[in-house]
Amino acid sequence: MYDVVVIGSGPGGYVAAIRASQLGLKTACIEKEVDSEGESKLGGTCLNVGCIPSKSLLESSKEYTQARIKLSDHGIGINEPKLDLSKMMERKNDIVLQLTSGVSGLFKANMVHSICGVATVKNANEIEVTHNGKSEIIKTEHLIIATGSSPIDLPVSSTNQDHIVDSTGALEFDYVPPKLAIVGAGIIGLELGSVWARLGSEVTIIEAMDEFLPAADKRISRDVFKTLKNQGLNISLGSEVVETTSDSTGVKVRYKHQDDLNEIQVDKLIVAVGRKPNTSNLVEEDCGLSMDENGFILVNKVCETSVKNIFAIGDVVRGPMLAHKASEEGKMVVERIAKKQTELNYGLIPSVIYTHPEVAWVGKNEEELKREKIEFVTGTFPFAANGRALTSGESLGLVKVIADKDTDKILGVHVFGSAAADIVQEAIIAMKFGSTAEELGSTTFGHPTVSEALHEAALAVNRKAIHIGNRKR
Ligand code: FAD
Ligand code: NAI
Repeated sequence: MYDVVVIGSGPGGYVAAIRASQLGLKTACIEKEVDSEGESKLGGTCLNVGCIPSKSLLESSKEYTQARIKLSDHGIGINEPKLDLSKMMERKNDIVLQLTSGVSGLFKANMVHSICGVATVKNANEIEVTHNGKSEIIKTEHLIIATGSSPIDLPVSSTNQDHIVDSTGALEFDYVPPKLAIVGAGIIGLELGSVWARLGSEVTIIEAMDEFLPAADKRISRDVFKTLKNQGLNISLGSEVVETTSDSTGVKVRYKHQDDLNEIQVDKLIVAVGRKPNTSNLVEEDCGLSMDENGFILVNKVCETSVKNIFAIGDVVRGPMLAHKASEEGKMVVERIAKKQTELNYGLIPSVIYTHPEVAWVGKNEEELKREKIEFVTGTFPFAANGRALTSGESLGLVKVIADKDTDKILGVHVFGSAAADIVQEAIIAMKFGSTAEELGSTTFGHPTVSEALHEAALAVNRKAIHIGNRKR
């Protein structure tokens, strides 16, 4: 009998399992994916086919572009760089292996029992695990479901993992497709579109919505759209794929944009229209676990489900589908099982899009505050006026700090710039401790750093920025 059994070894499940063991709870983690040695392939979507391999290719393709385009700005002349795609893929696979084996090592070091097989929940205390045609029942006091999510398929362009692929297939191309189309200008579409455009593909992105990146700050999403267009991403908003035809040479994609019917012939088509929770065949019917109409497990703010002692975390429940959100929920749940009063501040979960420059934000944007009738003041600072950004040749973008008009408390920070993710992280620490814009502005920042743009944007909230004009309100 275990104290805690976790189903799924992604960033939600493996972090929950390790923390549970640290807390002295007898813990097992069940994972259905199997590696080449017949052991559990740990790490979930994030480590195997998500965050890590995509960031590896983003970094490699960025280096390639820098070598091709940017080095000459520094007065460094080199011959035209040569792309070795199989080496780039090998590097990515090595990083994945290093991190996934790292999780196996952490399980052993923390005495988490790793169980290989497909789990089916019978009730809060019994899980059936099937592996190689054999089944066993695992018993536990508490169960955590962390089964993650999978790509949504579109009937009109159903993936065949040959010419029409999902994000997993798009991380494995063995040549640079001369022409590439992507359905969906969401995070995956923009990140993977950037990778392949940098490596030489002509990229068309077909997006159903009229608005680009609606969750981001309006000014920033306008700037990102223009920048990505300049980088060769041809994004067609308000467009709908009506038909795809695959043959041995590629895919013919027909899509409607306003009243026009367009047709493009591409070598590969990536479908990136969102992800769905992995809950089909997971739970026996009489278990009593409530799900919504899309298959997400219903939970309260501390991830308790409708069944006592069953918890659910990560992509399989409401909220953003992000690795760090899954991990923090995992820690919260096991700490609560261990009778600690841990809670998660869902208002301080950062969003990052790893384009170049990056886009990152935390907290509220102006539209949300207007809808909530909260009065606010903004301060912005452009990287073009930041010394370190200029020396790095990274002067695109800006930092925007939004503060409450009455209390000056920081309500949101939005960044478009090469170090956006790290700058937002600094803001999160300030916001966690309830900082005002004035307090952030009175903090000493090292010079020259790109973080000084955050400092100046915070000062700009109260019209005290030094390196830009401060117009009177
Ligand atoms: P998962 O990581 O999906 O893990 C679930 C695990 O459960 C899997 O290993 C699965 O095999 C296992 N499982 C499922 N059903 C069963 C069963 N019945 N029995 C046993 N095991 C089962 N997020 C970020 O924060 N930053 C990023 O940069 C980022 N980049 C991404 C890039 C891509 C291309 C993709 C696809 C996603 C990216 N994400 C990113 C999202 C991130 O990967 C997910 O939010 C995160 O992995 C969710 O973690 P999880 O633990 O909930 O589920
Ligand atoms: P997404 O929800 O970010 O974007 C999907 C896009 O497809 C939306 O813009 C939507 O309007 C569009 N779309 C939906 N149906 C369509 C159709 N029929 N035709 C054309 N467009 C259509 O989902 P995405 O990009 O698949 O990513 C899934 C999840 O993975 C994200 O929600 C994100 O949380 C996570 N992720 C996070 C990353 C990060 O944190 N950097 C990187 C990659 C993924």
